[in-house]
Amino acid sequence: MCGIIGYIGKKYNALNVLIKGLERLEYRGYDSAGIAFIENNNLKIIKEKGKISNLKSNIDFSVKSNLGIGHTRWATHGVANKENSHPHRVGKITIVHNGIIENYDEIKKELIKDGVSFKSETDTEVACALLNKLYSETKDINKSLNLFKQKVKGAYAMGIICDDDINTLYAIKNKSPLVVAFGEDENFIASDVPAILEFTNKYITLDDGEFVKIKSNNVICFKDDKIINKKIRTFDGTTESIEKNGYEHFMLKEIFEQPEVFKKTVSEYIENGTESLINKMPDFTKYSSIKIVACGSAMHAGYIGKSLIEEFADVPVDVEIASEFRYKKLFIDKNTLIILISQSGETADTLAAVEIAKKNNCDTLGIINVKESSIARNCDIVLYTKAGSEIAVATTKAYSAQVAMLSLIALNIANSKKLLNKNEIKEILTEIKNLPIKIQSLLDRKDEFKDIAKKIYKNNDVFFIGRNVDYSLCMEGSLKLKEISYINSQAYAAGELKHGTISLIEDGTPVISIVTNENIADKTISNIKEVKSRGANVILITTEKLNVNSDFYDEKVVVPNTHSLLQPLLTIIPLQLLSYEIAKLRDCNIDKPKNLAKSVTVE
Ligand code: AGP
Ligand code: GLU
Repeated sequence: MCGIIGYIGKKYNALNVLIKGLERLEYRGYDSAGIAFIENNNLKIIKEKGKISNLKSNIDFSVKSNLGIGHTRWATHGVANKENSHPHRVGKITIVHNGIIENYDEIKKELIKDGVSFKSETDTEVACALLNKLYSETKDINKSLNLFKQKVKGAYAMGIICDDDINTLYAIKNKSPLVVAFGEDENFIASDVPAILEFTNKYITLDDGEFVKIKSNNVICFKDDKIINKKIRTFDGTTESIEKNGYEHFMLKEIFEQPEVFKKTVSEYIENGTESLINKMPDFTKYSSIKIVACGSAMHAGYIGKSLIEEFADVPVDVEIASEFRYKKLFIDKNTLIILISQSGETADTLAAVEIAKKNNCDTLGIINVKESSIARNCDIVLYTKAGSEIAVATTKAYSAQVAMLSLIALNIANSKKLLNKNEIKEILTEIKNLPIKIQSLLDRKDEFKDIAKKIYKNNDVFFIGRNVDYSLCMEGSLKLKEISYINSQAYAAGELKHGTISLIEDGTPVISIVTNENIADKTISNIKEVKSRGANVILITTEKLNVNSDFYDEKVVVPNTHSLLQPLLTIIPLQLLSYEIAKLRDCNIDKPKNLAKSVTVE
């Protein structure tokens, strides 16, 4: 799930454009980075293991170039080292690639028989060697790309330079996203629009099976042998500055932005009470069921949405892991609304789910953070979360904006179906207005979570338990903790622990126990007693209105009361800050945890 970029033109030095673009694309991977560029009619390649900053420090920016391609990698085939880094070069062909070549092994064997040898373990080098072979046979890039498409299975967005035509940039796309953007006497390719937004906002997206021949003043798109016309679109967003603004980490900054993000995300839907909710949201009442499809934290937000929509709006909701949804029997039709949730809007599995939903005649609604992203462009309706750029790999503000949007959807349906009385609606609207202050009050207590973190950061296993919506919060709390602190943690429905996992509870094992729903508080408290009796170190997270006997916990975090439709938006804050403080005490790379990427653009 890499990021790719390409530039041709005289206005800027290609090296600057490539590096700036790669910095914007680093959310797609940071195992290694590299560029290939033409300098004095020769192709040069510079690549380095690790982050773009490593690559940048090895580049001499006084060198001038008018054409280049760049790559930031999240390794799928071959370890993260310099040899496996892109660009790859075989014979006269140099490429950068985002995706996976599924039949690379078979192609590799054939090429080895032909006498080709390989320097890396990547599928990409195989694709490069194949294209070089096809080109050496046909002496024609267009023909070679058409043959390449027939032979290669899998996902690829590629930027290509051919030694015989160093005034042209080629690009091809199948399943992985690719845009071509237009400047004045200069053109670009990129995995997404924000990567080149500093230079231009005019772009086209390539569809599967298309390829382009790009000169500085001319772009020709091909589908098979035919030239095709594409509609030029204008990106109407801006790129935000990506500075830490005095915070030690982006994650902390983003956690602290949540009061503002909540306000921005919900304000247009409630400015005139339920009237704006009805006018600005689609009519959900025509669907008999909802399926939420997403990955990771976005899926966890989906679980909160499921509880809230079922509880308040009486609509059955299923949550599906996008990578599973793709390959299973589906029982969906036009009466099922498919909701796709994604911060980046580029997650490959979630993007593929949109197509599947469409094939099954379902309407698709995206809850997306990045404007004009691939998923946003493909959904029938989009409700944008307004979290702004999220840089830390571990999502915080985008997750809570997704939860906020799902709460509004639950409220909207409940209101349309007249399931809530006027007073309750009034109370919810007042609570929505008060929520940013309550979120802030929790953020102001950051040191309290640091003190708890100090007591548990050395443990190697942590459990999270809760029921219903609290269980969904446990899933997110647990993921947050493991992804940034590398502590093994598990989230359990409180009542389920005793069916096996309780055998892992030992003296001092931290069990973060969430109890916010008064109707089932007693049930969860019984489960807390069960772990306490087996020596667990119980960290209770509860609300002001619930009174839990102090014998049953070791540490207590009290979150302010609010309406139950909004409670998860407060309960999540201690979980985020606790993970952050633990990861900091363990000296982890908080914003860029190992093995991860911000957006997973491969299957
Ligand atoms: C969470 O902190 C993650 N890093 C990850 O689970 C993420 O939520 C998931 O990959 C989905 O990404 P998306 O929202 O961009 O689709
Ligand atoms: N499969 C290629 C590699 O491992 C590209 C990876 C990707 O796009 O994630 O280098």
